[in-house]
Amino acid sequence: MIKSVLITGANAGLGKECARQLGTQPETTKVYLGCRNPERAEAAKLELEETTGRKVFEIIIVDVSSPDSVRAAVEAIPEPIDALVMNAGGMGGTDPGQLTESGAIQLFATNLLGHTILLEELLAAKKLTQVALFAGTEAARGIPKMRMKRPTLETSSVDDFVSICDGTFFPQPVEAMVAYGPVKYMSAMCMAAIARKHPEIRVITVSPGGTDGTEVMNDLPPLTKFFFTHVGLRILPLLGMMHDLDVGAKRYVDALNDKAYTTGAFYGSAENLLTGPMIDQATIFEDLNNEAFQDNAYEAVHRFIS
Ligand SMILES: NC(=O)c1ccc[n+]([C@@H]2O[C@H](COP(=O)([O-])OP(=O)(O)OC[C@H]3O[C@@H](n4cnc5c(N)ncnc54)[C@H](OP(=O)(O)O)[C@@H]3O)[C@@H](O)[C@H]2O)c1
Repeated sequence: MIKSVLITGANAGLGKECARQLGTQPETTKVYLGCRNPERAEAAKLELEETTGRKVFEIIIVDVSSPDSVRAAVEAIPEPIDALVMNAGGMGGTDPGQLTESGAIQLFATNLLGHTILLEELLAAKKLTQVALFAGTEAARGIPKMRMKRPTLETSSVDDFVSICDGTFFPQPVEAMVAYGPVKYMSAMCMAAIARKHPEIRVITVSPGGTDGTEVMNDLPPLTKFFFTHVGLRILPLLGMMHDLDVGAKRYVDALNDKAYTTGAFYGSAENLLTGPMIDQATIFEDLNNEAFQDNAYEAVHRFIS
C-alpha cells in the first residue's frame, strides 16, 4: 500500500482528484501536492483537507518545465516517498511549440523532460521506493474516432525522437492536437526504458482515459475548445469516449496499489475506446514493446538534459 506520494499538477483535474482519493485511504500519511502556482496550490490544499477531513497534504512548488525547479523540488522532499505520479502537463499551454532554453518544445518539456529529471533524481537520491506512474494517453497509439493519428516515425532512431523533442517532426507552427500523441508516445517509450534500468521499483504509464471535469482543453485554439466543451461533452460519453473525473483518477490509484500492473508497461483503454477496463497498449501498437526504440527515446530525452 502507498503511504506517501508526490503528485505533479495536483491543484486541478486528475492530479487533484488522485490526491483526494489517495488522501482518503487510511494508510496514507503524506500527499505532496507538486504545483507551480502557490495560490492555486494553497486553494487545492484547503479544499482537499475539507473534502477528506485529513491533514496529510503538503505543497511542493515545482514547475516541471524547468529543470532547476524540478531539482529544487527533489531537494525539498524531506524523506523517501513510496510513489510518484507524473501527471502535470497536457497540451503544453498557449504556445506548445515555444522553445525552452535547452531547445525543447514546451509540450515535451512539460510532459516528459521535467518528469524524467524528477524521476531519475528522486531515484539517485534514494527518495522513491515503490512505484512511479506517468500520465499517458490513448493518443499515443492513435485515436481514429478523434482523428488523432498513430505516431509514425521513419526509423525510430534517436534522431527521429529528437525531432519530436525540438518540434521539427511537426508541421510549423506546432499544434497541440498534432504534437500531443507523439510526445506522449515517446514518454511511454522513455518510461519503459527507465523501468528496465530500475528494477527496484515499478515504472508504469497509465492513461486516465477520456476524462470530463478537467482543464486540459483550456489552452486549445477557440474552435477546437468549442468543439470539445460544447459538442464533445455531449457525444463522447455516448461513444464510450469519456468518463467522470473520479473514474479517470481511479485508474491511477488502482495501478499504483496493484502490482499486477507490471513495470515497463503502458495501460489504457481497449481499441476504439477511451473508457472501460484497461489493457496493455502494446497489444494495440506493438512498437511500444520494442526495446531498441525505447532506448532511442530515452537517449533522445537525455540530449536535452545537462
Ligand atoms: N483529461 C483527459 O481526458 C486526459 C486524457 C488522457 C491523459 N490525460 C493526461 O492527464 C494529465 C492531467 O490532465 P488533466 O486533464 O487533469 O489536466 P488539467 O486539469 O489541465 O490539469 C493539469 C495540471 O498540470 C499542471 N501543470 C501544467 N503545466 C505545469 C508545469 N509546467 N509545472 C507544474 N504543473 C503544471 C496544471 O497547473 P496550473 O493550474 O498551474 O496550470 C494543472 O494542475 C495530463 O498529463 C494529461 O495529458 C488527460
